[in-house]
Amino acid sequence: MSQLFRMTPESYKRLVKDAQSDPERFWLRESERLEWSASPSRAADKGAGWFEDGRLNASVNCIDRHLHTRGDQAAIIWQGEDEDNVVTLTYRDLYDRVCSLANVLRDHGVRKGDRVAIHLPAVADGVVAMLACARIGALHIVLFGGFSAEAIADRLADSGAVAVITANVGRRGAKRIPFKTTMDAAIKLRGAASAVRHVFVVSVTEDKVPLQEGRDALLAPLMDEAPSDSPPELMKSADPLFLLYTSGSTGKPKGIVHSTGGYLTWASFTHELIFDHKPGDVFWCTADIGWITGHTYVAYGPLANGSTLLMFEGMPSHPAPGRWWDVIRKHRVTTFYTSPTAIRALMAEGDEIPARYDLSSLRVLGSVGEPINHEAWTWFHDVIGGGRCPVVDTWWQTETGGAMISLVPGAVAPRPASATLPLPGVNLLLLDEKGQKLDGSAEGILCIDGSWPGRALTIWNDDALFRKTYLDPYPGHYFTGDGARRDEDGYFWITGRVDDVINVSGHRIGSAEIEDALSEIHDISESAAVGIPHDIKGQGLIVYVVPHAGLSEAQIVSVREQAVKVISARIGRYAVPEQIYVVSDLPKTRSGKNVRRLMRKIACGDKEGFGDLSTLANPGIVEELITAVAAACG
Ligand code: WTA
Repeated sequence: MSQLFRMTPESYKRLVKDAQSDPERFWLRESERLEWSASPSRAADKGAGWFEDGRLNASVNCIDRHLHTRGDQAAIIWQGEDEDNVVTLTYRDLYDRVCSLANVLRDHGVRKGDRVAIHLPAVADGVVAMLACARIGALHIVLFGGFSAEAIADRLADSGAVAVITANVGRRGAKRIPFKTTMDAAIKLRGAASAVRHVFVVSVTEDKVPLQEGRDALLAPLMDEAPSDSPPELMKSADPLFLLYTSGSTGKPKGIVHSTGGYLTWASFTHELIFDHKPGDVFWCTADIGWITGHTYVAYGPLANGSTLLMFEGMPSHPAPGRWWDVIRKHRVTTFYTSPTAIRALMAEGDEIPARYDLSSLRVLGSVGEPINHEAWTWFHDVIGGGRCPVVDTWWQTETGGAMISLVPGAVAPRPASATLPLPGVNLLLLDEKGQKLDGSAEGILCIDGSWPGRALTIWNDDALFRKTYLDPYPGHYFTGDGARRDEDGYFWITGRVDDVINVSGHRIGSAEIEDALSEIHDISESAAVGIPHDIKGQGLIVYVVPHAGLSEAQIVSVREQAVKVISARIGRYAVPEQIYVVSDLPKTRSGKNVRRLMRKIACGDKEGFGDLSTLANPGIVEELITAVAAACG
């Protein structure tokens, strides 16, 4: 097996040992994978970020430096929902587009350090826009396509974005998703307080949308007129490359800030290692660019390594089951990286669907975003990979910048449903609730010892919150918010979040975010959101709401509708709960804290085994919750 892959068990062991024995030398050597205008003389983060005195530009690393060797190679193959709609951008084309857009942005006064929001469907322009921002040293904020206008408005306001790149519409089968109208509504919500001066519109279809004089412009004509060369801005290694909002335990989404040199080193290092990157690969990561996976493994990692990436506009099973497998067949995809939710949904369609397609181009399969169960892992490995492709289950987070735990093809023996071992240079710890280190085979809170180049710099506008969330809970270590089990061989099995973050289909949703949104409803006095196991989505979102006393039956029915409406409007449709239970109170401790553990168990359908209920302030409520759940489940 080992000759097939770039790593062997021996070379991998050497890598682990080198990283362990002299991290400074190891990371400095790894930084050489990038092209620096000024090479760093130091690696480790001593307070001023990784590779402190290095200077570079991320777009140069993803494009310019490949032009001599692979200018005519496809950088991006974009497959539209329509079979015949395929766009291939070579590295030379990518250079032209990125430079043109960089010039448009500069012409409109966007400068180094400014923030630019990107809200686009799955078109290649998304990657072009990210790189154009990187070229001029502007920070991009990619917003998930499914966000509501209010969710966008919050993020525009927090980041102070001065320009926005959006689309007229997105395509979803016969449906049109109103990107521009949503953006207009988002900007309007803040009125004069909005910092957005320019809205650039990508024309995905021929559909016309209103353009506001002086603020909005169609992007294509501007890019056609702009010169296709644009000098890159020289950035310090620790200058921010982008902000990306993610959910945590607080109601407000956090703008996670990533650096230029450290992040890009991590993206390139991990992409090469875990996907066994080789020239000629066609790399397909199905993530939306609005999530971190879309940053690191749609854009930065593969492009920094000179790979060919595939982007697909459509859905897995549209117009018919098997569409994704057909894309793999058609474009000879070698590396396919997706989520457990997608794998489980595709598995449910039956083995005969993928069996119709030639999937022999595949070499490596990957999974990310949530724990993958044994059955889904095995199906992916056996049915999609034909038993010959390693499955890399990659554990990581928005905050870590790139994968931290993963199988390395050729070097690490698989164990279905285990993310396997920490990558070289990653030092993991398991702690008990008191912060005591657990040794050997154990289950506990997953923390990371020391730093690594991909670690987020901070939270935008709130460094104190960054420290409080990640660094203070277990001093000296980075707190992940996840629990994990380590077996006798040092393999890791992620057990899920230990904080109040719910992971629905790999989308992070903070329970506080949902509860905050619901607090807007006058008829509700309080609410609690919890996650429970879900066969396809990994976790399903369940909400308990307590209406004010004395409401009529009709008003209570309307509470449910209002809840759905408010969550869709404040966050987005993707955060609408599976079930909303209307109850007269929530189980509380005597000090008034909601007992989520109990609410989760009850929502799972448990009727007993709750332990000692006498510590509750209102033990009588348990029966009512059980009845509400039983009634809904028929
Ligand atoms: C979860 C996505 C188990 C985890 C890259 C983490 C996983 C959160 C895995 C981060 C995995 C991600 N196995 N759980 N392979 N990958 N997670 O920030 O709970 O969107 O904390 O980053 O997803 O989600 P985020």
